[in-house]
Amino acid sequence: MDGTAMEAGLAAMLRDLPEAARAALVDPIPPRNLNDWSALEPRSPGALFCPRDTGQVAAIFAAANAARVPVVPQGGLTGLCGGARPIAGAVALSLERMTGIEELDEASSTMTVLAGTPLETVQRAAADAGLYFALDLGARGSCAVGGNAATNAGGNRVIRYGMARDLILGVEAVLPDGTVVDALSKLIKNNTGYDVRQLFVGSEGTLGVITRLTLRLHPAPGCTHAAICGLADYASVLRLLKGARRRLGPTLSAFEAMWPDYWKVACAVPGVRDPLSAPHAHTVLVEAQGTDEGIDGPRFTAFLEEMFEEGVIEDAALSQSLADVQSFWGVRDACAEFKTTLGPHLAYDVGLPTGQMDDFARACRAAVAEAVPDGRSVYYGHVGDGNLHLLAWQHGTQNQPGPTLDQAVYATVRDFGGSVSAEHGIGTTKKPYLPHSRSPEELELMRRIKRALDPHMILNPGRVIDA
Ligand code: FAD
Ligand code: LAC
Ligand code: ZN
Repeated sequence: MDGTAMEAGLAAMLRDLPEAARAALVDPIPPRNLNDWSALEPRSPGALFCPRDTGQVAAIFAAANAARVPVVPQGGLTGLCGGARPIAGAVALSLERMTGIEELDEASSTMTVLAGTPLETVQRAAADAGLYFALDLGARGSCAVGGNAATNAGGNRVIRYGMARDLILGVEAVLPDGTVVDALSKLIKNNTGYDVRQLFVGSEGTLGVITRLTLRLHPAPGCTHAAICGLADYASVLRLLKGARRRLGPTLSAFEAMWPDYWKVACAVPGVRDPLSAPHAHTVLVEAQGTDEGIDGPRFTAFLEEMFEEGVIEDAALSQSLADVQSFWGVRDACAEFKTTLGPHLAYDVGLPTGQMDDFARACRAAVAEAVPDGRSVYYGHVGDGNLHLLAWQHGTQNQPGPTLDQAVYATVRDFGGSVSAEHGIGTTKKPYLPHSRSPEELELMRRIKRALDPHMILNPGRVIDA
């Protein structure tokens, strides 16, 4: 839709707005709703709606669909690929007022929540009930569970509990025509036809807006142990991962590797403490969640001792308390502060065969350095899940050469048979590179699904795939 047609559509929509939708209109539009965490420029929508309930969401959609005005869903706006960034002249629909926990069902270990509820609020509510919501990521304080579902977020404990997809038992979603689909469920096993909830999980707000969710909870860990391990080379990282899987079994809850370039930048963030006395070629945070301190504590220590004896680890700091565990995560989570300490940069999230990550890092570092003058990059990530992150930037430049850096990184990803997104999604920034990771038949099926659910292309158009 061109700008003039959209302007006319929005004017018609606002003129004929039903009362339920009008009550959700927010004016003036706060600056926070103008962008997500991507490196793109902020952009003002034509109108912002912050509904308080599903009825209001449905009314807004019915009006937008009738007037053919695009709607961009917004959760906590921590997405890294432009998916929640407004479209100029269109509607932004923020779930920020739809917060709260509706029910915690201890017997079925589920929680039913409104989609705008911050992840950290959900985690706390589960902990208060002696349970555990296993999804965790650095943006926990700001991201919303609806956004986590829409992006199929991964995060820190995928190795043990899976992605958001594995922790969502049901959703309520509003379709672009205003139809409310009730696919809420507390059932773990439910083979009654197509899995409707999974259609919305990971669809990045292009098929429906998630308004409520039923989340799967786990027992709260009885004890948690972590170590920061310094290693001499990537072969040792792989040996440590193998050892952790074998020795810690199902208690292994995180395996995060950091390359020395990342480690240096992270430890320079104010308040971050380096627990090791000297730098290493690779540094790994390994964590295990157990049930019994008397059994799991000695098991974790024995695992580390074995890794020392086998020459896998050069040095390690072992947690003595939960405060230590949190302090270790402080180095890993420090990337949340890099916008301030490092300046403007682009964040990448690639899936790779675990064995080839170090070769990829070497090749990608060279590609970035060659692509732009003074091109730099740092590497870290959820190595236990085959998911590497990298940050790339042109040193000393405010306006980053995004497309040039993208091309250098994604060409290298393709050379290594990787995926252009492991957990952050496609949004707008990775859309040109989706064919790197999906077959033509998969792409056509995605288009057919999009056309079936959103025939007028009003829901988050231009994101993920053009239909
Ligand atoms: P938003 O940014 O608001 O939206 C993301 C997408 O979902 C957009 O396309 C939007 O249109 C759509 N959307 C939002 N809400 C809804 C809804 N209710 N219904 C339908 N569509 C909706 N991601 C990871 O996977 N793992 C990590 O470890 C991780 N760490 C991060 C650390 C930091 C410091 C930061 C800033 C980000 C990190 N992220 C990570 C990325 C981001 O936090 C996740 O993608 C998160 O799930 C986005 O949630 P949000 O509520 O902020 O969504
Ligand atoms: C992380 C985000 C960027 O893992 O996904 O730090
Ligand atoms: Zn991540």
